[in-house]
Amino acid sequence: MLRSRSALTLPACGVFGLLVGAYFAFGLPDPSISIREQAAAKLEMIQIEVAATQSRIDAINLKIYEVESRPVKLNLGDPLPEKQSYELGRKARAEEVLSWDIDVRADGSGLPEGSGDVWTGEEVFAENCAACHGDFGEAIGRWPVLAGGHETLIEENPVKTIGSYWPYLSTVYDYVYRAMPFGYSQSLSHDDVYAITAYLLYLNDLVDDDFELNYENFKSVRLPNENNFYLDDRATTEHVAFAVQPCMSNCKAEVEITARARIVDVTPDEEQFEVTALAGTSSVASPGDAKALLVDAGEKVFRKCKSCHAIGAGAKMKSGPHLTEIIGRKMGSATGFGYSSAFKSAAQEDRVWDEAAMAAFLAKPKAYMPGTKMGFVGLKKADDIDAVIAYLKEAG
Ligand code: HEC
Ligand code: HEC
Repeated sequence: MLRSRSALTLPACGVFGLLVGAYFAFGLPDPSISIREQAAAKLEMIQIEVAATQSRIDAINLKIYEVESRPVKLNLGDPLPEKQSYELGRKARAEEVLSWDIDVRADGSGLPEGSGDVWTGEEVFAENCAACHGDFGEAIGRWPVLAGGHETLIEENPVKTIGSYWPYLSTVYDYVYRAMPFGYSQSLSHDDVYAITAYLLYLNDLVDDDFELNYENFKSVRLPNENNFYLDDRATTEHVAFAVQPCMSNCKAEVEITARARIVDVTPDEEQFEVTALAGTSSVASPGDAKALLVDAGEKVFRKCKSCHAIGAGAKMKSGPHLTEIIGRKMGSATGFGYSSAFKSAAQEDRVWDEAAMAAFLAKPKAYMPGTKMGFVGLKKADDIDAVIAYLKEAG
């Protein structure tokens, strides 16, 4: 926005006259030089001064121009400035507004006068629309289908057409007039659009071939799917359910991690070894190979134990006891590990880990050893248990 321009202008001749006048009024002529020469010299000086003054004026004008053309910053909430014009363009004329105002609504408002019948519609359609939508609205290639599709809305791939899906005829009129023919929109007369709309109704088996659509009967035409549309009530139904203020701080007194997804086994290991597939295959040449494969598989299963257990010579305690030479070892006997009382009493009873006990424990640790503090749900697959036992024997 530009404020009204207030440039400084000081006409060069005005300044000149002023200065010449001042000279002749107050200057003392030098008697040794002729008056003409003196006047010429003075004139030159004055001209220099005029030029200097003019360039100062130019500089000031430039400043004013800069200030005026700076964008005016408005803060939100400030009242709008009185003069709100970019000084571009002009007000739209009523006819211009009318030419934009072409929407036709479901209640018939905006519908222009006119009429057209199915036969005329067929001709206009063949000429303007059939190249893309097919002679009968069945569509050429991948252009939209305009007819058919009845009863398909409940199918997996519904065919949504004017007849099967659209709620109001006004949309057909509005859309065709506004947007079609594709690439040459708004080239049709209102009577042509009436005729095409009548033809589209005919193609959708909604009227007979002698039907004429016009301004008067337009509103009485109903499309079959109209009643399946209803007002969106989510704002008053679903929305209230989510409108409660969510808790954003100090929502829970304390947070305790009870188990890790990896350990409770909710996320299956992608690389989990299919023991069955390998151990049982006929391609396994000898019992020795089968055992090696089982141990391999067991090593992979042992990844689930690794976060808590180490195994092998010199293995350290982790959150669980080391499992070195566990098969044949007394239960609860790794020195230096603080066992639960369940394991302590098993130790007192001199119970020993054999394969059967291990299999039962690993299947359901808490059932086999009630009161154990091993936070592990157990292994679901018998094959995994066999494999991990094979690994425990081998590794430890
Ligand atoms: C050059 C190809 C072409 C021509 C010719 C053409 N259309 Fe279309 N028509 C289209 C395309 C493309 C669309 C989809 C436009 C979109 O989704 O934005 C369409 C969409 C439509 C739709 C909406 C279909 C729907 O279910 O969404 C109607 C109705 C329609 N055209 C009618 C006509 C009529 C009537 C004529 C002739 C006056 C016509 N078209 C001429 C290409 C064409
Ligand atoms: C979340 C940690 C954790 C995981 C995972 C875990 N364990 Fe344990 N395990 C323990 C703890 C702790 C103990 C000691 C239990 C007690 O004192 O009640 C234990 C005890 C054992 C014992 C008894 C050791 C002894 O000295 O008698 C064996 C055997 C065992 N676990 C094997 C396994 C195997 C095999 C796996 C994997 C399939 C596994 N555990 C997974 C923590 C774990």
